[in-house]
Amino acid sequence: MSDKPEKFIDENGLRLDGRRVDEIRPMKMEIGVLSRADGSCYLEWGKNKVLAAVYGPRELHPRRLQKADSALIRYRYNMAAFSVEDRIRPGPSRRSIEISKVSREAFEPVVLTHLYPGAVIDVFAEVLQADAGTRTAAINAACMALADAGIPMKGLVSACAVGKVDGQLVLDLNKPEDNYGDADIPMAMTSDGEITLVQMDGDVTPEEFKQAIEMCKEGCRQIMELQKETLKNKFTKLEDVEISDD
Ligand code: CDP
Repeated sequence: MSDKPEKFIDENGLRLDGRRVDEIRPMKMEIGVLSRADGSCYLEWGKNKVLAAVYGPRELHPRRLQKADSALIRYRYNMAAFSVEDRIRPGPSRRSIEISKVSREAFEPVVLTHLYPGAVIDVFAEVLQADAGTRTAAINAACMALADAGIPMKGLVSACAVGKVDGQLVLDLNKPEDNYGDADIPMAMTSDGEITLVQMDGDVTPEEFKQAIEMCKEGCRQIMELQKETLKNKFTKLEDVEISDD
């Protein structure tokens, strides 16, 4: 692990990886990458690599766990043993249990679970390579896998973090900013700007917090554009196939 950099932002306002303070890392995603899952997505964001798979809605067993009036969402965030510099011990950890819980809650307000009483929707987010911001990368991928599985949702969910380094707010933390910065605020939001996840590590003033939300909104807006584009591409291609088959 590298030592704390002397400065995170240079005199030109550029960060260690050359980005501006309000710029997100390059992101790309592909859906329908797993043939055995009902929906799937592979996403790269900077050096993060995440695979998300969705199974369901399907009948939940054992039946005593079923909810009479809605589907249950289960979300498992997992880091592969080889995803970080120091090997991760396989199996759940305090961190992965916490991330799984808050990520599930990020989707509960948007998934139309009442349409599937007694069912379960399983979301698996596997981090293959980690480089800061994996919970938000996983949420972006999971949203796409849910959409790919045809799970009815009120809208898409996008996620991004805002942090603070050198006394300035920065969008989408890189690894040194995440490790040595003064704050890390991951958020998830819907297209209407409804926040479905917010966590905070470190200190910011109330005014900075408000600014962080606005910065994050803009980051999420850009991510949502890519999410929509990815879905459009897949479904336009399907339409083309249907037309050419006639
Ligand atoms: O990944 P995210 O920013 O959502 O969560 P974090 O707990 O703030 O972790 C920040 C980064 O630290 C991760 O993205 C990994 O690159 C790294 N990390 C690690 O090297 N070993 C761990 N056991 C957990 C995280």
